[in-house]
Amino acid sequence: MNKVAIVYFSGTGNTKYVADKMKSVIVRKGIEVDLINIEKDKINPKLYNKIIIGGPVYVERYPEILLRYLKENLSEYKGECMLYSTQASEGQTPVFQHAMKRIKKVNVSYFDYIPMPNNFYNFMFKHCSKEKEVQLIKEASEKAEKAALEFCEGKSKSYDMPNNRVFLADFAYKLTYPFLRDFLLRKLKVDESKCINCGLCVRSCPAKSIKIQPKLKINNKCTFCQRCIHSCPKNAFVYKDKPIIQYKPDRGEGK
Ligand SMILES: Cc1cc2nc3c(=O)[nH]c(=O)nc-3n(C[C@H](O)[C@H](O)[C@H](O)COP(=O)(O)O)c2cc1C
Ligand code: SF4
Ligand code: SF4
Repeated sequence: MNKVAIVYFSGTGNTKYVADKMKSVIVRKGIEVDLINIEKDKINPKLYNKIIIGGPVYVERYPEILLRYLKENLSEYKGECMLYSTQASEGQTPVFQHAMKRIKKVNVSYFDYIPMPNNFYNFMFKHCSKEKEVQLIKEASEKAEKAALEFCEGKSKSYDMPNNRVFLADFAYKLTYPFLRDFLLRKLKVDESKCINCGLCVRSCPAKSIKIQPKLKINNKCTFCQRCIHSCPKNAFVYKDKPIIQYKPDRGEGK
C-alpha cells in the first residue's frame, strides 16, 4: 500500500489551496492521494500509510473543529503524519505544540507552516496589497510542494518554540478568544437592503451557528472562520456599519 490522505479544514480557502497543491505534486510522483475535507468526509485511516493534516491558525491554535476531528479519528493511527498550518504570520507560531498536546499518540515526523494572505483584516491586522497577495500565494505553492515531497520521501522536519511562548499563547487564547469573538461579532450585521436571502451563509457555516431570519444571529459555537462574510454573493455583511472587503484572491501565483 502506498497511499496518502490529506486531511484539512479550511474556512476561506487558503488551507484547501495548499492541500490541492500538495495533492498535485504527490500524484505527479505516481502516489495515490485522497483529499479529506473534515466537514464532509470521514476518514478510514487503515487505507493510508501517510497522512498530511492541515488547518488555519486561529489565535495561535488550530480551530477546535479540526482538533476534535483529529482526536476522534486519528488517535490510534500508527503511520507517519505531517502537520501544516496556513497563517497570516510570516514566522512560526505555537500551533503545532498545542496540537501535539491534543493528539499525543500520533506519530508526526514533519511540521511546516505556510504564510498566506490574512483573511481576518476586516476585524484585525492589515489587509495586504494585491501584489503581496500574489507573492504570498506563489511562495505558499512552492513551500507546500517542497514539504509534501520531502514528507513522502521520508524526510523529517521538526519545529522549535520556547516554552514561555507556548504558555503565553495559551494564556492569550483562553483570555481573549471567546470574549474577543463575541465583542467583534456584536458589531457585525447584515445589510437587509443587499441580502437576497439565498441562505448560503447559513448552509456553509461549519459550526451551524448562523441564522439570518429575522435578523443576523450568530451563536457561541462560531469559530470565527470568516466564511460567511467572505462568501456572501451580495457582500451584505457590514462591520461597524462599514462594508466588508471580501477576501477573493485571484490565485494568480505571480505568473
Ligand atoms: C479568527 C482568526 C484568528 C486568526 N489568528 C491568527 C493568528 O493567531 N496567527 C496568524 O498567523 N494568523 C491568524 N489568522 C489568519 C489565518 O490563519 C490565515 O488567513 C489562514 O490562512 C486562513 O486559512 P483558511 O482560508 O484555510 O481558513 C487568523 C484568522 C482568523 C479568522
Ligand atoms: S449569503 Fe449573503 S445574501 Fe445570502 S443569505 Fe447570507 S447574507 Fe444574505
Ligand atoms: S457564523 Fe462563524 S463559524 Fe459560521 S461561517 Fe460565519 S464566521 Fe464561520
